[in-house]
Amino acid sequence: MSRNSEKWSVVTGRWSVRKSTYCLLLAAYCLLALGCRYDMQDQPRYTAQKKSDFFKDGKAMRDLPEGTVSRGNLREDKAFYTGKKETAGGASAAPVQTMTDASGNTLVASFPDAIEEFPVPVTEELINRGEERYKVFCIVCHGPVGNGDGMIVRRGFPKPPTYNDDRLRNAPVGHFYDVITNGWGKMNSYASQVPVADRWAIVAYIRTLQISQNPNGNIKMTSSNSDNTTNTTANTAVTATPTLPNANRQGGAR
Ligand code: HEC
Repeated sequence: MSRNSEKWSVVTGRWSVRKSTYCLLLAAYCLLALGCRYDMQDQPRYTAQKKSDFFKDGKAMRDLPEGTVSRGNLREDKAFYTGKKETAGGASAAPVQTMTDASGNTLVASFPDAIEEFPVPVTEELINRGEERYKVFCIVCHGPVGNGDGMIVRRGFPKPPTYNDDRLRNAPVGHFYDVITNGWGKMNSYASQVPVADRWAIVAYIRTLQISQNPNGNIKMTSSNSDNTTNTTANTAVTATPTLPNANRQGGAR
């Protein structure tokens, strides 16, 4: 039997030379193949904000087509999301009247851009939600009935104006929404803590506080939205007369 035989040599007890060469080659190939693994995460791709030689403007990221809106951010309903009228900000906007109070605050007394009616159905459920949220976020400064005598104010924080004077009684609902959304003077914005729907709930509760302190006044809680598909109790209240908070229950727990 020759040395180059491909068979197992009974005499030497070894593989022939050619066979062992094949084995070596196969092993080398397997190792190579493993070493050259190319995963999808290793694609030659651009990362955000990187430069590109491919596009003429040198940017790897493409500009979004005009008018693109990310999912959930269409916010087409201007009244609901901003509390402002469709015409707001136009050249026809009336000049805003201001006055100064005893503490030197500049008080705005006319709100030509703010909507007058709630953009959501005014329901008992809405007001109850507003009460709950008001007590979480606003009562500490504005006090239980909105007189600006909350606990923080009693401890020295600047006193907010009362909700219960003619200026804020006559202020349109859009103004209250705007104050919560964007802040007002010394007051912070509560946009990050209070979602849009809850802001309207709080505004509804502020209106009921105003009614409670001036029950014979002419404060309306009308809604421009009679869509009762979004709210099962929509037809229970439009001009709301909920259980009115009691002015004497200042600071009392409930
Ligand atoms: C940390 C105290 C504080 C909290 C909490 C607070 N406010 Fe105020 N708020 C103020 C102060 C102070 C002012 C007066 C700001 C100024 O005129 O510079 C004010 C003013 C206002 C006004 C009157 C705006 C005007 O036209 O004069 C409204 C309405 C109002 N806040 C609503 C709210 C609501 C609703 C909440 C809860 C979501 C809230 N505030 C939470 C301190 C607070």
